[in-house]
Amino acid sequence: MIIKASGLTKRFGNQTALDKISFEIGQGQIFGFLGPSGSGKTTTINILTGQLLATEGSAEIFGKASQELTSEDLSKIGIVSDTSGFYEKMTLYKNMLVYAKFYGVSRERVDELLRSVGIYESKNKPAKNLSTGMKQRMLLARALINQPQVLFLDEPTSGLDPSTSRIIHDLLLELKAKGTTIFLTTHDMHEATLLCDHLALLHQGKLVETGSPTGLIKKYYTDKKVVVTYQDGSTKEIIYNALRTLETPAIETIHSCEPTLEDIFITLTGGKLNV
Ligand SMILES: Nc1ncnc2c1ncn2[C@@H]1O[C@H](COP(=O)(O)OP(=O)(O)OP(=O)(O)O)[C@@H](O)[C@H]1O
Ligand SMILES: [Mg+2]
Repeated sequence: MIIKASGLTKRFGNQTALDKISFEIGQGQIFGFLGPSGSGKTTTINILTGQLLATEGSAEIFGKASQELTSEDLSKIGIVSDTSGFYEKMTLYKNMLVYAKFYGVSRERVDELLRSVGIYESKNKPAKNLSTGMKQRMLLARALINQPQVLFLDEPTSGLDPSTSRIIHDLLLELKAKGTTIFLTTHDMHEATLLCDHLALLHQGKLVETGSPTGLIKKYYTDKKVVVTYQDGSTKEIIYNALRTLETPAIETIHSCEPTLEDIFITLTGGKLNV
C-alpha cells in the first residue's frame, strides 16, 4: 500500500474534525475523497502529508509514518492545495524555473509540462495576473516537476470550466497510466465517477461509505427501476424484472434509473455534497 490511514482522528479543541478514518490506497490508484465543505478533506491531506499531527490513529505513505517523512520522501510527493504558495510578482515561467532548479530539472521538461496543462502561451505573465484556472494549472504543473510517485490534489478542478477540467482529467489519467498514485478531493460527482478507482464519502469527519464508483452505484440501485419510453412519446416506470413482459415493438428507449453518486450521498447523509 502506498497510502494508509488507520483510525485517524483529529480534534481541534473540542471539535472532532476527523473521526476514526481508515483507508488504504494501492499504487496507481486514483482515490476520490468526497465530502461537503468542512467534512475534513483538507485536514486528512494535511495529516497524510505530515503537515499536521493526528490526535489519534496513524497515517503512512510508502510504509512510513507521515510525521517522519524526510525531505527525500517528500520529494516523491506532489501536493496541490489552495494554500500552495507561489511568487506573485514573478512570471509563471520563473515560478516554474525556481522549482525546476531546486530539483535539477531541465527547461525542456518545464516547457513540456506547461504545454500539457495548456498554459505555455501565458508563461511570461506575472503569476498574480493569471486567472484562477491558470493558477491551478500552474500549481499542478509545478507539483509534477519532480515526477512525484504520489500526488495529493485538493479540489484541482473547482471553479474550472468544463474544457479546462477535461485537460486536467486527461492528464491525471495519463499519470495514473504511468503508475502515479493520486489522492483527489472533489465536490464534483461526475469527476469522481469518471476518474476514480475507489471512493470514500466523508460526512462530518466520518467515512460513511467506500467502494468503486460502479460498485457503489450497483449497491444503491436497489429498486432496479427502468423508464420505458414508447414510440408515442409516453413513458412508464417499471421494475427491471418486468421488462420481459412488455410489448417490445412499441418501445423507443429504455433507461435504467441507477442512482448517481449525488443520490447516494443524499441517501446516506440527508444532504447534498456540494454545499
Ligand atoms: N487549524 C484549524 N483549527 C481549527 N479548526 C480547524 C482547523 N483546520 C480545520 N478546522 C476545522 O475542521 C473541519 C474540517 O475542515 P477541512 O478544512 O478539513 O474541511 P474540508 O472538507 O477540506 O472543507 P472544504 O471543502 O471547504 O475545503 C472544519 O470544521 C474546520 O473548521
Ligand atoms: Mg478543503
